[in-house]
Amino acid sequence: MTRTIGLIGTGMIGTTLARLAIAAGIDVLLSNSRGPESLRGLVADLGPRATASTVADAAVTGDIVIAAIPMSAYRSLQGDLLKGKIVIDTMNYYPTGDDHIPILDEAKLTSSELVQQHIKGSTVVKALFNLDFHHLLTNARPHRHPERTTLPIAGDDEEAKSIVAGFMDEIGFDALDTGTLAASWRIEPDTPIYVWPYVPSMPDHLSGEDRKKWYCEHAGNPVTRETAQNLVDEAIRRLPAGGLPERLPPEHLDLVAQIFASRSLVQ
Ligand SMILES: NC(=O)c1ccc[n+]([C@@H]2O[C@H](COP(=O)([O-])OP(=O)(O)OC[C@H]3O[C@@H](n4cnc5c(N)ncnc54)[C@H](OP(=O)(O)O)[C@@H]3O)[C@@H](O)[C@H]2O)c1
Repeated sequence: MTRTIGLIGTGMIGTTLARLAIAAGIDVLLSNSRGPESLRGLVADLGPRATASTVADAAVTGDIVIAAIPMSAYRSLQGDLLKGKIVIDTMNYYPTGDDHIPILDEAKLTSSELVQQHIKGSTVVKALFNLDFHHLLTNARPHRHPERTTLPIAGDDEEAKSIVAGFMDEIGFDALDTGTLAASWRIEPDTPIYVWPYVPSMPDHLSGEDRKKWYCEHAGNPVTRETAQNLVDEAIRRLPAGGLPERLPPEHLDLVAQIFASRSLVQ
């Protein structure tokens, strides 16, 4: 059982993972680029299982460390601090503006392979990256719940994947092992298992803020193991593209863009 998570990055995804972990009785060390003082309000909100920390303490103390920072900052992950650690990579690569990473633009590596190369002494597992922060929260269900949904994971170390799957089980998800980091292009942005299967179908009668609220507060239909495997098998390798997943219908795209712009879980 996971006892302590070290979070590097406490924005939309990091905060959501902290909430899920705490709800499962797991202690969380939170860190960001600005230091522990800046996390006072968030830690007070999360309660006694949350501690504001430095990046170094979160890296060293966590049983599992979660990297929830922008992909453009992956080089700031410190290999010496993370040596021997299992690191969950939640980062997605969206080539935008000055943030291009040429080796990823050319699809010569997956983003998680690049992260693994950077923190060589750690064991990277790609997990908890393929749904937006609202639906990460709304899709979580307790163990054996009939509506449990399945999320993909990838990694090169079987034991590490099993430990990460155990953590995911604790916070509300079944994990499907989709193979190595090299094969994880099958689950990267703009593949069939990315975001879209986990969002709800929108009722026609809602508009404006009601629509947004409804969308944020509801889960998609549970994704079974078999469906998840089929979605992974259907993936076609493409060059990374910027923006939100092309698969979403236009009305969802607008909504998702507004939700991200409002960052409504983190004020
Ligand atoms: N948002 C989602 O729904 C979602 C879903 C799945 C995956 N992801 C992925 O998760 C990652 C984080 O996304 P997000 O939306 O949570 O981003 P975000 O809201 O912008 O938060 C980013 C966090 O990373 C911290 N950070 C940035 N550079 C850092 C550094 N060098 N060292 C330590 N902390 C640093 C920031 O701290 P400061 O504020 O102090 O700079 C902030 O806490 C991204 O790679 C994204 O692709 C996001």
